[in-house]
Amino acid sequence: MPKFSFEKIVNHTKVSGFVYPGSEIYGGLANSWDYGPLGVALKNNIKKAWWQKFVIENQNIVGLDSSIILNPKVWEASGHVATFNDPLIDCKYCHSRFRADKLVEGHDSSIRASAMSNQELEDYIAKNIVCPKCGHNQFTNIRQFQLMFKTSIGVVEDAKSQAYLRPETAQGIFINYKNVLRTSRKKIPFGIGQIGKAFRNEITPGNFIFRTREFEQMELEFFTKPGTDLEWYEYFKKYCMDFLLNLGMKQENLKFLEYEKEELAHYSKATCDILYAFPFSNGFEELWGIAHRSDYDLTKHQEYSGEKMEYLDVDTKEKYIPYVIEPSVGVDRLLLALICDAYDEETVNENDVRIVLHLHPFVAPFKAAILPLSKQQNDLANEIYAKLVKEFEIDFDNTGSIGKRYRRQDAIGTPYCITVDFDSETDKSVTIRNRDTMEQERVKIEDLSNYLKEKIKL
Ligand code: GAP
Repeated sequence: MPKFSFEKIVNHTKVSGFVYPGSEIYGGLANSWDYGPLGVALKNNIKKAWWQKFVIENQNIVGLDSSIILNPKVWEASGHVATFNDPLIDCKYCHSRFRADKLVEGHDSSIRASAMSNQELEDYIAKNIVCPKCGHNQFTNIRQFQLMFKTSIGVVEDAKSQAYLRPETAQGIFINYKNVLRTSRKKIPFGIGQIGKAFRNEITPGNFIFRTREFEQMELEFFTKPGTDLEWYEYFKKYCMDFLLNLGMKQENLKFLEYEKEELAHYSKATCDILYAFPFSNGFEELWGIAHRSDYDLTKHQEYSGEKMEYLDVDTKEKYIPYVIEPSVGVDRLLLALICDAYDEETVNENDVRIVLHLHPFVAPFKAAILPLSKQQNDLANEIYAKLVKEFEIDFDNTGSIGKRYRRQDAIGTPYCITVDFDSETDKSVTIRNRDTMEQERVKIEDLSNYLKEKIKL
């Protein structure tokens, strides 16, 4: 389990410029957050890492950037209009509102409330649970609450103009499956990856950026031949876990949760989540969902659009609608997990504790910081900065003692501090200090670019 309290970690991200409260000067907007200079850099690097590993390094996966507002029929076909809702229950006494399933799981974490009917949830709550806000046991019946944000297109607001902000990026992929197949000359098995914003009118957002109403997803839809689907499911389970471990996340903070048969959607053969031991939770919480979606989505879009979604295997002449494996992870949630995993407070000596973020260099907001030892080294330091900044994210800091400057960089996860000192001009070298080991080595200025390139590799 992470060693530090959630409050401490959240506070660190706020004071150091990773995340700010949303709309702060207007008193804020509940559960909305803005990413500051370090946050946007970290977020971009996480997306870059995912795109690199899921799209660029796979010959049979291509990218897509579909619209946020789609034809509303998409959401009828996908089932979101009818079923994308949460069971809502109100305390009759203090009028606080809760998600009934979360209330039950919060009371007993061994229960999988997602598998319970509304009647079962109501009965369980009536017998066992008091309102967490006021302590009374008087709840309304459960009502289903639509999670999609509605908007309208054009100047007249009527039923015809109604549209939705997408609650997932996945459907934009399914409706473009034929376009990609036609234009990319891919053959099954192949995948389409997409990164983008999604919106859900969550009833119980919270735990900082863990659950928000506006967030980003990184989703892959991988199209397979029926019969090979479960092999691909296992393949992507491992691929996703390896991705997290490769980013340096601690194995003991990650685990799989495989869904029981009765918890699976009716069309799915298997689904699991990768869970992370977030410090706000007593146990583990969902980080990444990996779902076997069979041919459900493509078949539904075929039915609602009239467009054939069959794939013709030109070698065997077989025709089929492919089965889909879908790994889907939230950028913001992964960012939170990475920070929780990387945060540490280390005792350097009796009077010195340093905060350090052990982020993988690939995702760290800055790869290196240039620190001239005194003003006399400013020119050379600036020269080095100007060269390196063309290739890497580099910070420059010439204020305060060198010890303080090291600490500042440790706290924001900069893996290398490059000190330009009195000898640098003559020996054409600098001292590189490693964030994690605090060891120092002398490196030729002309070798810096290769040095960093080698170190930040994924
Ligand atoms: N297309 C499948 C899909 O959207 P999901 O389990 O609802 O599946 C996938 O979402 C991932 O998106 C989650 O595992 C989580 O990382 C992230 N996510 C979902 N809802 C979120 C929210 N309200 N705030 C932040 N991240 C969210």
